[in-house]
Amino acid sequence: MKYNNILSQENNGITIITINRPNKLNALNKATIEELHEAFDVADKDKNTKVIILTGSEEKAFVAGADISEFANFTVKNGGKLAAKGQKLVFDFIENLSTPVIAAVNGFALGGGLELAMACHFRVASDNAKLGLPEVSLGVIPGYGGTQRLPQLVGKGRAMEMIMTAGMIDANQALAYGLVNHVTTQDELLPLCEKIASKIMRNSPVAIASAINAINANYKDGVNGFEIEIKEFGNSFGTEDFKEGTSAFLQKRKADFPGK
Ligand code: COA
Repeated sequence: MKYNNILSQENNGITIITINRPNKLNALNKATIEELHEAFDVADKDKNTKVIILTGSEEKAFVAGADISEFANFTVKNGGKLAAKGQKLVFDFIENLSTPVIAAVNGFALGGGLELAMACHFRVASDNAKLGLPEVSLGVIPGYGGTQRLPQLVGKGRAMEMIMTAGMIDANQALAYGLVNHVTTQDELLPLCEKIASKIMRNSPVAIASAINAINANYKDGVNGFEIEIKEFGNSFGTEDFKEGTSAFLQKRKADFPGK
């Protein structure tokens, strides 16, 4: 698959998707949103891909937001459509993938960029990262899930302050807030994400997919997370991975999960 705005490369079970518009600080234009959808869909269906890492090209930015030049002249109707389409194609799509997705936040993660990182299953940042939702400084609000996911991750008061001030926090503040799980140097960012990915890859992909579904259920309206957990737990007993995992434990050997 040929992309113009992103790169996607699978290696040893890990697909790294890189947003590649460094001259525009990797801002999310329409074409990039569509290519991201395609690349995540392909990686999720690819049998070789066990973990996906999402990052931005070059050292300055993960993603500096939605592409402001594209929506500057939008009407009310266009604005609503932009948010709805983006949420469906990319943000909700990533959050609900069965393949684990790690955001490697390598610089500015602003507006749609922070929203993109928050849609990933968890985040690791380099020490130069700056994170924020500056939309109200443009007279708009976060539209790619930011008003919902930021309070889930950092708490309501901190989210209110970040969104109202339109300010940026640095990587260590993001770590203290629980917005990112680890902070490291720029050079170590991808190696650290790959190290975490390799730990994930030792485990049952079927069980991981069930766990993602159960955890996400906690944040869905009208869905009882405990009931989803019971259902997913019960279903685990019918998988080949469960037979392999328990047999390997009893036989004191490393499990070799078939992923079924
Ligand atoms: N949309 C479109 N273009 C963007 C962009 C965005 N969100 N963020 C950066 N760019 C472009 C700039 O217009 C500039 O393009 P140009 O060279 O063709 O003029 C290029 O990326 C480099 O950005 P620049 O502003 O010159 O870099 P800087 O180091 O001076 O500032 C930021 C970096 C991140 C502070 C600044 O780019 C910024 O505030 N970006 C917008 C962030 C934002 O409000 N995002 C939320 C959008 S809803």
